[in-house]
Amino acid sequence: MQELTIEELGYNGEGVSHINGKVCFVKYVLPNEVVQAKIIKSNSKYCWALPEKIIKSSPYRIMPLCPYFGKCGGCDFQHIKYEKEIEIKKQILEKQLDKIGIKNLKINSIFANDYFYRNKIRLYPTDLGLGYHGIEGMVSIENCKLATQIIDKNIKQISEFVFENKNILGLIYVELRCFDDLICINFFVKKKVNFDFKSLAERLSNKCQIYLTVNGKSFCCYSNSLNGEKVNPCAFKQVNNKIAEKLYKKVITYAKNKSVANCYSGAGLLSKLLIDNGALNVYGLELGENEHQEAEELKRENNLKNLINMKGDCADLLPKISREIDLIIVDPPRGGCSQSVIQSILDSKAKNLIYISCNNVTFARDISYLKDFKIIEIELYDMFPRTANFEIFAYLERK
Ligand SMILES: C[S@@+](CC[C@H](N)C(=O)[O-])C[C@H]1O[C@@H](n2cnc3c(N)ncnc32)[C@H](O)[C@@H]1O
Repeated sequence: MQELTIEELGYNGEGVSHINGKVCFVKYVLPNEVVQAKIIKSNSKYCWALPEKIIKSSPYRIMPLCPYFGKCGGCDFQHIKYEKEIEIKKQILEKQLDKIGIKNLKINSIFANDYFYRNKIRLYPTDLGLGYHGIEGMVSIENCKLATQIIDKNIKQISEFVFENKNILGLIYVELRCFDDLICINFFVKKKVNFDFKSLAERLSNKCQIYLTVNGKSFCCYSNSLNGEKVNPCAFKQVNNKIAEKLYKKVITYAKNKSVANCYSGAGLLSKLLIDNGALNVYGLELGENEHQEAEELKRENNLKNLINMKGDCADLLPKISREIDLIIVDPPRGGCSQSVIQSILDSKAKNLIYISCNNVTFARDISYLKDFKIIEIELYDMFPRTANFEIFAYLERK
């Protein structure tokens, strides 16, 4: 056991301390706290620790809402007052910008619910049913306060079902999504099994659709939703509806009368909103088959003549259209944009760029490569409260 003073928080929200000159990252602490900590991992440069006892507590410390906090590995910040969490996230972003020479930019923070926001969670089989990959092994759970209430209140029943049927299912993991008051249960399994899922549906407090997904292909096995809602159980969707809505509202204000490349366009929701709000035309560039199909369906259903969905890697597709574009939007996965995407943004005729990012490290890296562009406006959208992650919106102009 080691007594440690927490100096600051790092880019992933962990406390930074030192043991004989070696950096020690401590989870679930706050700056200026003194804690007794257990070292859980160490290499020649760093070590990682978990607090066992708080000796000197921060005034921003609160009781976590969830009994699994600190064990299941899902949340980083339940021990912090939410207003302080927003401030910490803003400081993390400021530090990243500072590292690439951008100072004194005003950052607006946009936030909504601190709990019950995730419309999708992924759970893994455990000895007792379902749970998360925790910091020190699997942790079975019966509820999750990050998930929407519809998902939260059905976890226990789904977990019991998995426990009773684990030998039949051959389960790899299960994704729970909610679409309004419908819960979608998608079992990712090694091979397709014939199973009557009615007994699962009867235990749930919401109408449901149940899928099996084998090698990337999904089969609907059961549905008791009366209105025949169509859901795509696999396509990417932003996990926080309220924040996604606010983010999209922001983005569309910049697209009026513009020809737009919507790179990494997912299932096409933003593409549709861009067209609905006055973009001249929109190219939706997306690699995923499920997402592209859903975007095509959205185009058909809404007769969006000015939307051109292109399936493939942005690195290959963007150079093909980048000479016809006024505004480029990128919303890449956590790894950020590839060098060839960065190059085709630089080579394009687009005067403006909107960079949406869920990773402050790759965001700062890519902005530093985009030397011909200057950030005009930047906002922090708290898409993932109680975790160290957040979404960044940046509007840039060619210099
Ligand atoms: C963070 S999501 C953004 C989705 C969309 N903008 C939205 O708001 O729903 C990233 C998307 O990029 C897609 N993607 C990942 N790598 C890609 C690539 N190299 N080229 C095109 N799309 C890619 C993923 O399938 C995913 O749908």
